[in-house]
Amino acid sequence: EKGGFDWFMRKEIYEQPRAVADTLLGRYDSDGALTLDEIRISEAELRQIDKIVVIACGTSFYAGLVAKYAIEHWTRIPCEVELASEFRYRDPIVGPTTLVVTISQSGETADTLMAIRHAREQKARVLAICNTNGSTIPRESDAVIYTHAGPEVGVASTKGFLTQLVACYLLGLYLAQVRGTKYGDEIATIMHELEQMPALIQQVLDGIQPVLDLASEFADEPSVLFLGRHVGYPVALEGALKLKELAYIHAEGFAAGELKHGPIALIDHQLPVFVVVPPQGRDMLHDKVISNIQEVRARGAKTVILVEEGDEEVTPYADVLIRLPRVSTLLQPLVATVPLQVFACELATRKGHDVDQPRNLAKSVTVE
Ligand code: F6R
Repeated sequence: EKGGFDWFMRKEIYEQPRAVADTLLGRYDSDGALTLDEIRISEAELRQIDKIVVIACGTSFYAGLVAKYAIEHWTRIPCEVELASEFRYRDPIVGPTTLVVTISQSGETADTLMAIRHAREQKARVLAICNTNGSTIPRESDAVIYTHAGPEVGVASTKGFLTQLVACYLLGLYLAQVRGTKYGDEIATIMHELEQMPALIQQVLDGIQPVLDLASEFADEPSVLFLGRHVGYPVALEGALKLKELAYIHAEGFAAGELKHGPIALIDHQLPVFVVVPPQGRDMLHDKVISNIQEVRARGAKTVILVEEGDEEVTPYADVLIRLPRVSTLLQPLVATVPLQVFACELATRKGHDVDQPRNLAKSVTVE
């Protein structure tokens, strides 16, 4: 049932091109209109929305952090992202013109479910992004976008995460279409790029050998850092979470711009630091990350750099280069996360851990 793989997790990592393709399937018709048929909130209501609050836990929360960048950029609707376990015990400002978006692979996470009930008591509209048909969270929501990842058996979320990202992009584009903040041809360009993603994710998997080699080299490291900016920041958080939960290695993800506000004190001789470099573009982001890399390298870190093909600016400061396909900044998490998933899976395997059932963890956290 593992299809020749040693772990469900590894199988699920390799299913990601298919999972992403399936989640995109049938959303975009030939005359260029985006339809999300499980949305049971009228277009008129969606035009009234003046605030979006994304609520989730763990890896799904990181998908929400990526969603914020895309949704605000495309729709100009203010978007907050909050951990469900925090939201449910707060006195949040939500109401009938708030769209609460919950993200849950299992659809059964207790904290997320309680957060939905808390939001609905205050008349917020709730849209669930979920991978499990008929689970509790979509049943208690006004609308659902299903991710079509297929069953995820490994405790650590992989294809669940990538398909959640796709659903968030689709939601952002749909809102932009309904509210007229993006023109049809702009939406078409982004949809076209999304449709290329399964092939690009496959390309990352086909070239994964250097990441497997890296895992054996780093198996005895006591601590690893991950840095990113913009949508690379949630990717860094996800890379760190995967390493903690599977390899039981201390790992932290930071926004690279925060380095000098504290974390740079951690940089020590030979400390492995993974850095996600944004695509080379018109903005400053790329160059800022390069200078962050120089800062940690100058203090002795061993730098593992995830960077797009053809970008040689960072090469002098990289101990290890992991090449990513060229994509636009907002979509980069779909390709940049994959090597980090493989790295954690492989490192945990080399350490002899049970990758599918890490200690102390459950697949659905149905208790608080
Ligand atoms: C990490 C992981 C967890 C889940 C979290 C939320 O690999 O799998 O952090 O993402 O427990 O679960 P769902 O998405 O089912 O609500």
